[in-house]
Parts: sequence; C-alpha cells; structure tokens
Amino acid sequence: MKNKRSSQWFQAPGYHGMARRAWLRSEGYPADVFDGKPIVGICNSWSELTNCNMHLRDVAAAVKRGVLAAGGIPLEFPTISLGEMLMLPTTMMFRNLMAMDVEESIRANPLDAVVLLCGCDKTTPAQLMGAASVDIPAIVVPGGPMLAGQFKGQKLGSGTDGRKLFDLYRTGKLTDEEWSEVEGCIARTSGHCTVMGTASTMTSLAEALGMTLPGSASIPAPDSRRLANAELSGRAAVELIEAGLTPSRIMTRAAFENAIRVLMALGGSTNAVVHLIAIAGRLGIRLTLDDFDRIARKTPCIVNVKPSGEYLMEDFFHAGGVPAVMNRIASLLHGDCVTVNGKTIGENVSTTVSQDDNVIRQVSAEGGIVVLRGNLAPNGALIKVTAASPGLLKHRGRAYVFETRDQMIAEIDRDDLAVDRDSVLVMRNCGPKGAPGFPEWGHIPMPKKLLEQGVTDMVRISDARMSGTSFGTVILHVAPESAVGGPLAIVKTGDDIVLDVAARKLELGITAQEMQDRLSRFVAPPPHYRRGYGRLFLEHVTQADQGCDFDFLMPEVNK
Ligand code: FES
Repeated sequence: MKNKRSSQWFQAPGYHGMARRAWLRSEGYPADVFDGKPIVGICNSWSELTNCNMHLRDVAAAVKRGVLAAGGIPLEFPTISLGEMLMLPTTMMFRNLMAMDVEESIRANPLDAVVLLCGCDKTTPAQLMGAASVDIPAIVVPGGPMLAGQFKGQKLGSGTDGRKLFDLYRTGKLTDEEWSEVEGCIARTSGHCTVMGTASTMTSLAEALGMTLPGSASIPAPDSRRLANAELSGRAAVELIEAGLTPSRIMTRAAFENAIRVLMALGGSTNAVVHLIAIAGRLGIRLTLDDFDRIARKTPCIVNVKPSGEYLMEDFFHAGGVPAVMNRIASLLHGDCVTVNGKTIGENVSTTVSQDDNVIRQVSAEGGIVVLRGNLAPNGALIKVTAASPGLLKHRGRAYVFETRDQMIAEIDRDDLAVDRDSVLVMRNCGPKGAPGFPEWGHIPMPKKLLEQGVTDMVRISDARMSGTSFGTVILHVAPESAVGGPLAIVKTGDDIVLDVAARKLELGITAQEMQDRLSRFVAPPPHYRRGYGRLFLEHVTQADQGCDFDFLMPEVNK
C-alpha cells in the first residue's frame, strides 16, 4: 500500500508521532492499530436539532463495520449540522459555514478518506463542497427519506401536502383536531422529507455525480438496506484510498452535466441549481444558468414524484431509484464518468430498469427547471415548470408589491387586498443579502380572498428560494437581488409584468429610460449584521446565479 496521508501524523519521527499514537490509544486501541492502516473519517451531521439526520449515528456504526472489514480504522467526528425546520433565519445562511467546518475538519486531521453522512437539505451540498476543496477520497452515505404519513387514507408528502392541507385549515375546511392529526403523522420516522424536495434531490445528485454507491439515495431511512448500504460504503472508502480516487477525479464537468441532466429528469428542487454551481465552483468548474437551461431543453422529466408528480420517495425506491432513471436516459449521459465504486456510471446503471412505470414515466417533455431572463432578471431567475400551472406559463398581469416578507405576512389574508387572479405578487428583500441568507420564502401563500374564490395558483416573483417540496407558478432566485440594486427593487404596484416561459422571458413593462431613472434613485437597505459570522456572510456571499458560495472559498474558476 502507498504511503498514506495519515502517516504524516502517526509515522512522524520523534516525540510527535509517539504522542499522536499514544493519545488516540486513550480511546482503547491496541499498539498495532496506528501502524499504517488506512484511517477513514466518518463526517457525521447527526444532531438532535436536525431530526432528518437523527439516525446517522446508527448509520455511522454500519459504516464502521465496513471500514474495519476492509482493514481500515474508522474515526467518527461531528461537524455543525443544519436542521431545515429549526434554524433561523435559514439554513442557507449556514451552508458555507458547515462547508468550512467540513473542509477544515478533514484537512486538519490524519484522514486518508472520509465518509460523508448527510440527509437534510443543506447537509449534502455543504459536505460535498468541503470535501471537494480538500480533495482526499470521499464517499457520500445519505440517511434516506422518511416513510410516508397517512391522513384520511391519503399518503402525505412532507411539505407538499402539508402546505395544501394548511390552505384547507386556514380557510376553515379542516378542524383543529384534524390539523393536529396531520402534525402527528406527517413526519413519522427518521429520515428526510418524503418528496423530491431539496434533500432527496441533493442526495440523488450526489449519486448521479458518482459520489455514492449505486442506489444509495432513495433507500428509506428505516429500511435495513440503509445500513447494509452504509457498511458497503465503509468498505468502498478503504478501497478508494488504494485507488487514489479523489472527488476531483469523480466530479468532473461531465459528471456535473450528468447531475444537471438527472436534476431535470427528476423534476428536482430549484435549490439544486445553486448548490451544484457552488460544489462545481470548489473544483474550479464554472457552471452557468445557461448550462442548466440548455440541458433542460433536451431532457424529459420522467419521475412522477411530488411535488412535480404523484408519488413519494418510497415509491421511487421500489421503482428502481436513481439507477433506473439514469438507465432510462442513458443515451443523454456521459456514461464513462468514474464513480466511487471504481466503475463508470454507465456500468453502474446498465442493468437497473424501472420496476414501476407509473413512478418512472414521462411527466413533461422538457426538464423541470427553466431559466428566465429579461429586464426584471438580467442575471437570471428560475421557475419550476413541472410544479407550476400550465395556464399561467404565459401570463401578463399587474404587479402587487410587498416590500418585505413581514409586510406580505401582515397583508396576505386581508379581505381588501387589491389583487385578483391575474395579479402578479412581487416580494423583495428576500435574497442572499437582503433577507438575509436567501431563505425559502419564495412560495408566497395564496391570498385568502382568492383561495375563497377557488383560485389556487397565481404568478409570484421574488429573489428568495423556495422549498423543494413547494409548488405553484413561482419565480425565484431573481438576480441580481433587490437589496443590491437589482431591478426587482424598483417594481411598483400596478406595473405591467410579462412572463413567457416558452420564450424564457420575464419582463417589466416600463421603458429603458424609466428603468434607468428608477434605478438611479435606489438606496440600499442597511446591512443586517455588523459583526460575527453574519457580517462575514454579507461581505462575501455571491449572488444566486453564482452559487452563493463565499468569494474567498472558490479557487480561480477557469475550467
Ligand atoms: Fe430535513 Fe425536509 S426538513 S429534509
């Protein structure tokens, strides 16, 4: 076996080599353990504040069995974790902080490889970003999705059905008792959300990138095969060291194009666009919104899972998961990309055909995410067309502007809100710097007065993100954001807005001169933070179209 990275610590001459071995032996290891055996770190995002990742200590135990069986030494370590449901103002504000924690925890320690245990939305991209920057052999083991809840004979899909049922509750169609029953069953097991939200999308894309063993992403968290997969991943981590297979050899530009292709085929979360750009950026690979739009136009959405479709992640698992999807679109993929098991992605998926053509079937001829541009979004905006209303994809309407989310919340249920079904709701100051942290506020609730008229969708625009579990004709990630003087900042209530998804257009109906005049009067809002991590975030976060990483964490982006 080659000279290993950990040898710098344990085989160092003199006092320090002895001391490092001695202090680790305080954990109960015998004398021959640190004699050159491969050391595999298990980077665990377990936390009682991240319910989706609560079972990851059990997963880590299975990984350890695999590492030991392959002759390695597993050492588990924690990092900060990002619990989507609890953290304020938003986990997105801390994705880069977790990525830094992951990166420096790996770099500073005597590790020859690392197993990344993730689940809840931001934990997967944060770990991939950190591991990419260190570039020692790494393998991802996702925690897997929850099992579905049941309410009145209906399977519940995490946020997707939760939000629909909330609309029934706020309009008096569900009782307090029924609402409480929903609360008790919508998140009934360990694991992450049950739909193709951000968590399922990002773990699926880790698999599409080649960073997991085949089939890893969709195994339900409580399924025994989750632990078997973890054990096999532990063994694979040891083999990666010998093969010298590092993230930069696996996550190539071609692999990212595969991941974008799979994102479109999944009808996956819009958040994945920001995360993939950020992960690629760590490897010096520049992905642009145009890459996403180009690939979307030539990729069918073929996964009939909520919020784009009808089924849940458990059904997706039984249908064959990511390998079955990649098998179905194999002719569109770079099949020669190498993966963590040493085989190519083409070899990995060549025999996995769909087991359920209701779940894996064409939902739309083009990919789920469309990039819009125009004078309202010069650097781009996103819409998830597969979760939008077809009748609104070409629309002209009058803007109704909310200056902030607080204003929107205060007014959205007013009976005298001056909107009708054709209005376009605009909400600003919700981007990376303006909110701050780029929260998932983009799914502006439907005004109560329209819901009572039976209107269930309308065009909504903001510089926020949206939960991957959300739905509706919702335009997101408008860049540049309003807080830095993007055109969203100067929209007035009553302005004409034109959306034309087929033409990729989002236009504010004012003249160029009027636009210039209004922008010249723009005054930036005061910063939300003057100290600490918040200040670091505000000073260095990039815009949505650039991945929202910190500018100083990216290498020179030139590939
Ligand atoms: Fe963790 Fe949805 S709250 S994945």
